Amino acid sequence: MSQIRLINIVGARPQIIKASAISRAISKYFSKDIIEILVHTGQHYDRELSEVFFEELEIHKPDYHLGVGSATHGHQTAMMITGIEDILIKEKPDCVVLYGDTNSTLAGALAASKLHFPVIHIEAGLRSFNKIMPEELNRIMSDHASTLLFAPTNSAFKNLMNEGFRPENCPPYNIDNPKIYLAGDIMYDNTLFFAELAEKKKANIFEHLSLERDNFILVTIHRDTNTDNVDRLKEILVTLKKIAEQKAITFVMPLHPRTVNSLKINLESLYNELNECRYIKIIPPVSFLEMILLEKNCRMVITDSGGVQKESHFFKKPCIVLRKETEWVELVKNGTAMLVDADADRIQEAFGKFSESHNTLEYPGFYGNGKTAEFILSEILLLFEKS
Ligand code: UD1
Ligand code: UDP
Repeated sequence: MSQIRLINIVGARPQIIKASAISRAISKYFSKDIIEILVHTGQHYDRELSEVFFEELEIHKPDYHLGVGSATHGHQTAMMITGIEDILIKEKPDCVVLYGDTNSTLAGALAASKLHFPVIHIEAGLRSFNKIMPEELNRIMSDHASTLLFAPTNSAFKNLMNEGFRPENCPPYNIDNPKIYLAGDIMYDNTLFFAELAEKKKANIFEHLSLERDNFILVTIHRDTNTDNVDRLKEILVTLKKIAEQKAITFVMPLHPRTVNSLKINLESLYNELNECRYIKIIPPVSFLEMILLEKNCRMVITDSGGVQKESHFFKKPCIVLRKETEWVELVKNGTAMLVDADADRIQEAFGKFSESHNTLEYPGFYGNGKTAEFILSEILLLFEKS
């Protein structure tokens, strides 16, 4: 078999981090078999949401950068589709690899499937069953345009079966005869790989932020339902400030620019109060190695992020989820994550419960063996041997 040419498409922060697991496994184990071409749509463009990950995680610079930037969903996705289509026509890859559920994922799925390039979807099958979320539409459409679908969890695999995907399909696989896998999660691979490096390279973050290990709460908020709804954002932040002051414990908040923008525009006086509160530290987004250290050393995580929910589990920390529902249902069933929506009473209740019970919680391995990227790449190679 000659080398296969794989196009990796990224755009948003978590995708750059996820793609690093695949790039690393290609250079380590598959460099003779696979040529990787990296496309960055430019959905995220601030240094701390993009460039920092290329430098820190040692990912090679994108071969193509579309520089799409921020826009409404339709405009942004359309610009990405146009740019990706041009690249696909020029490069004629063997397959296109997509991650997660962002507009960059959807654009890649539409551009590639319409040109009949096989789509490989990593993080397939996750569902919130809430189609108000842009990510839910992106996921469903991307899954149904894919040839190989790698589900990270049992529930994601079952969701695919419930939508008509059949595990018994036989090769040759294609968009009408797709293959679904229960593969594990490449973010578990990444966390295992980078945790040690983080201690070596970034341990000064505690001094830099004047934090004591095991004596702070980590908070991230970026989901559109929270940032764009002023009442929800206010209820969440007023409640967190109240808890921080009552318990006299520091809350560290590396906030997405979207959240800070909304605070500055819609809730200026609350933003000022938060910045003046001795127990609240609003900081710019941190690098992945720094984030890993914050997750590993905090007492508890409070978040609306998908990735951060899982990483709290990797580091055995309870997680309060500022959403109505989650795709990572196993964490809620396990009792180590609690869904609280943006409800002040539920946030306080969950904080109280986890403060008392954190020593008795258990964190089973839901997310594979840390070698998911290798598994995915070996299955991609088989696609071309058998077809
Ligand atoms: C996107 C994904 C979301 C993912 C998140 C990861 C979609 C629909 N959403 O959400 O699923 O969880 O990335 O972080 O794809 N902005 C900046 N600088 C940037 C990028 C964005 O300031 O570098 C601001 C802009 O005001 C922009 C807003 O953030 O309008 C939203 O950015 P966008 O990429 O549309 O969505 P995210 O909220 O980042
Ligand atoms: N992350 C990071 N720095 C931050 C916040 C998050 O490196 O300041 C990482 C986090 O560790 C996780 C990923 O970004 O791996 C999650 O991305 P995000 O929360 O933006 O999106 P989601 O996972 O919800 O799509």
